[in-house]
Amino acid sequence: MTRYEGRVALITGGASGIGKETAKRIAAEGGTVVIADLQDDAGAAVVTEIQSHGGSASFVHLDVTSEDGWASAVATVLDRHGRLDVLVNNAGIGDTEPLEVTTSQTWDKVVAVTQTSVFLGMKAAAAALKASGNGAVVNISSMYGIVGSGVSPAYHAAKGAVRLLTKTTALGWAKEGVRVNSVHPGFIDTPILGETDRDALIAGTPMGRLGRPEEIAALIAFVASDDASFATGAEFVADGGYTAG
Ligand SMILES: NC(=O)c1ccc[n+]([C@@H]2O[C@H](COP(=O)([O-])OP(=O)(O)OC[C@H]3O[C@@H](n4cnc5c(N)ncnc54)[C@H](O)[C@@H]3O)[C@@H](O)[C@H]2O)c1
Repeated sequence: MTRYEGRVALITGGASGIGKETAKRIAAEGGTVVIADLQDDAGAAVVTEIQSHGGSASFVHLDVTSEDGWASAVATVLDRHGRLDVLVNNAGIGDTEPLEVTTSQTWDKVVAVTQTSVFLGMKAAAAALKASGNGAVVNISSMYGIVGSGVSPAYHAAKGAVRLLTKTTALGWAKEGVRVNSVHPGFIDTPILGETDRDALIAGTPMGRLGRPEEIAALIAFVASDDASFATGAEFVADGGYTAG
């Protein structure tokens, strides 16, 4: 497929998991990808993997909580490629504890990486995305941005915020040639799951398995492509049925 020929995509958290598979998928469809992450070595390895398959990729170091970092990352993309058409705000971290024992430090960190980053990214990329004439933003929320779980207050609050930040930005940019949508994965088999009991996650998922990062990458690649050209301000859920009940 060549849906991404001539298009440049900046993907945060592209060194691992969902972001990594999204970078591979968009590059495989002819796009030029710039992977932005804290993990330089892992990011460079993804770049090498994409290039070994004939794709176009490069890496830029970015802490998504830094406004200056965002300005410099977008400038780097424009220096390298002269344009930016797709922004995937994917970097994120979670918390796992009940509210009563969640520290304000944990709250601030999770909100900064998972929520504020999406605001900073869209703000930094706004002019370039509008100049594209066919811009698309995909913000990675979660099924946990739609329903609660009883724990992880910062993560739920941040992912819920990403959902509505997406919708209000979509409306603001609706006549400016930039679509803005959110993607809401269920439990996906990536390093973010850490020590979590995977059997419990599988048992809680109607389809009876974890999702694969490639399955979310395929959805992100659809949402950011012209195949979804009339979709903006929408939420795309891929959770094995979790939120259907
Ligand atoms: N895996 C799941 O079950 C699941 C479910 C729902 C939503 N999500 C969301 O999908 C997104 C990707 O998660 P994943 O599962 O691929 O996890 P992951 O841990 O494999 O990847 C996250 C990436 O983000 C990067 N990152 C973290 N903090 C950063 C920062 N400050 N600046 C730049 N990069 C930073 C990490 O280095 C890592 O490469 C996250 O937003 C996550 O919340 C994941």
